[in-house]
Amino acid sequence: MCGIVGYVGRQKASAIILEGLKRLEYRGYDSAGVCVLQGRQLEVVKKAGRVETLVKEAARHQLTGTTGIGHTRWATHGGVTDANAHPHVSSDGKFALIHNGVIENYAQMRAFLSTKGYTFHSETDTEVLCNLIAYHYAKEPMEQNGHSRFLESVRKTLRHVEGTYGIAALCVDFPGEIVAAREASPLILGVGDGEYILASDASALISRTQNVVYLKDGELVHLTPASFSITTRDQSDVSPVVDKITWSITDASKGDYAHFMEKEIFEQPAALENAMRGRFAADGSTAQFGGLNVTASEFRHIDRLMFCACGTAWHACLVTEHLIERFARLPVEVDYASEFRYRNTPLGSNTLFFVMSQSGETIDTLAALREAKRKGHRVLAISNVVGSSIAREADGGIYQHVGPEIGVASTKAFTSQLLIGAMMALYLARMRDMSFTDGVQFANALKAAPDLVRRVLDQAPNIREIAKRYAQSTDMLFLGRLSLFPLALEGALKLKEISYIHAEGYPAAEMKHGPIALISERCPSVFFAPAGEIFNKIVSSMQEIKARKGAVIAITTEGMQLPAGLANDVIEIPACHEAVLPIVAAIPIQLLSYYIAVERGCDVDKPRNLAKSVTVE
Ligand code: F6R
Repeated sequence: MCGIVGYVGRQKASAIILEGLKRLEYRGYDSAGVCVLQGRQLEVVKKAGRVETLVKEAARHQLTGTTGIGHTRWATHGGVTDANAHPHVSSDGKFALIHNGVIENYAQMRAFLSTKGYTFHSETDTEVLCNLIAYHYAKEPMEQNGHSRFLESVRKTLRHVEGTYGIAALCVDFPGEIVAAREASPLILGVGDGEYILASDASALISRTQNVVYLKDGELVHLTPASFSITTRDQSDVSPVVDKITWSITDASKGDYAHFMEKEIFEQPAALENAMRGRFAADGSTAQFGGLNVTASEFRHIDRLMFCACGTAWHACLVTEHLIERFARLPVEVDYASEFRYRNTPLGSNTLFFVMSQSGETIDTLAALREAKRKGHRVLAISNVVGSSIAREADGGIYQHVGPEIGVASTKAFTSQLLIGAMMALYLARMRDMSFTDGVQFANALKAAPDLVRRVLDQAPNIREIAKRYAQSTDMLFLGRLSLFPLALEGALKLKEISYIHAEGYPAAEMKHGPIALISERCPSVFFAPAGEIFNKIVSSMQEIKARKGAVIAITTEGMQLPAGLANDVIEIPACHEAVLPIVAAIPIQLLSYYIAVERGCDVDKPRNLAKSVTVE
């Protein structure tokens, strides 16, 4: 959700912060702000609107300080206004604060602080938190036993807070210092050459350093120009571990592409290669994963699997369910993480629990992980972001290794999740009753996936032309069966989130049980109609749409013959193994949604109301 940047060093802080905010804008983009310490003065510039608006506004101010904080906002408390934008300043003028998260008990705190004479200029929970720091600071004795008064007042404040936060604060009495802390919202410290950069994700600091410390929940970091120290909320010292980020600034840049989403769609062959590298056993018949921390014999005792995730990752889990049940013959349950956390699902002692999350920070998925752990279950994670909260809290897992995904609509992360799900199905199947020969065939099919995806990507110009014909639709149905039913859900999600066309995904045969009422000349249907035993059933569903004047866009296997005149448009995908089909079938729906959104003039990388990485409940 919101993006956070902080800088302490020798350079002009505002330039580095604004650059960081541009890279973080995908986390939230309804307003942005920056504050630098100039001598003992807090200089704040903040505006509703995009970071670009803030950059123009900041250019009108003399922001020369070398310590500062900045923020991009995704509104939770209070509308999108200049006043509600961060940073917020305490009413005594001593503190500035940026915050990502939700303070649940802010109303009580606000009422309390009002009785003490603190005043408020926004509707945000963050301004309340900022004033509470000022309140504790005013009460705090001067420096005691070498403990910084600034740090201690933030620590005291956080002991009264219920909710989630990644925060960074400045204090006029401590030029050159920042105090930051996290609880369930991501925060990373970049350790540079004579400088420190705080950020809610690595893309904001990667241009200055690859050395980072991932802060944990309940930790505070105190930055001074010369050093940093990490302590916990209960004042214990923490020995920091400095990790190295393996990707570079080029991976987080758009290059010659019009949008990150377009770049990430076209990166998929390479992303799939990275996700499978080193993950096939030497005999070529099964998959292998390094970091699961579950022995082969433990895997043999599993009698059920459960997967939790949100959004697109949830769709990837549904495909994984299909493949594991089909090939490994193990029952699988998939739940929305947001439901699981409150549902009290019974989990057997031989149930293996997985969460799937590109960002590794989605709060509901993190909560599902914690709930399963609380009940004594080992939890494995499939995630793309190294060092993310989910990756750290899981007992083991599989990294997707597809590099940063910046476009808000997930694409390359999705297909790599499908690939890893298929590899997990192969791994489990080979432990049970899949033959060596079938295993080799399955593994070879997965290895061929990048080339098949390239072949579909080559059809982008054709798909763009098709997209132009449907860009003015009011509704759209996506229909598929078996492992492509979740792809129908994904197609509908992709289209609606970036083009704002109402879309729904259904199993093709379910269409007659309600959604068919939507069919009209302005509501086309996208059918997945691959070669296979139910091809003819899908053709029958197409006929039913056609009979009601609905246009049909068919995604079918090369060489399949549809009855003449049935489909208005056809997109062909290469013939492939069942385990690879969902990956290959994902490409046309990504391209179709992307080109429709472009045709409609939508801001593809920053769709309205959305933000990448949903860190609030
Ligand atoms: C849609 C999309 C979202 C995410 C969801 C979960 O294109 O990107 O639906 O899939 O918010 O995010 P992660 O995988 O980061 O947990």
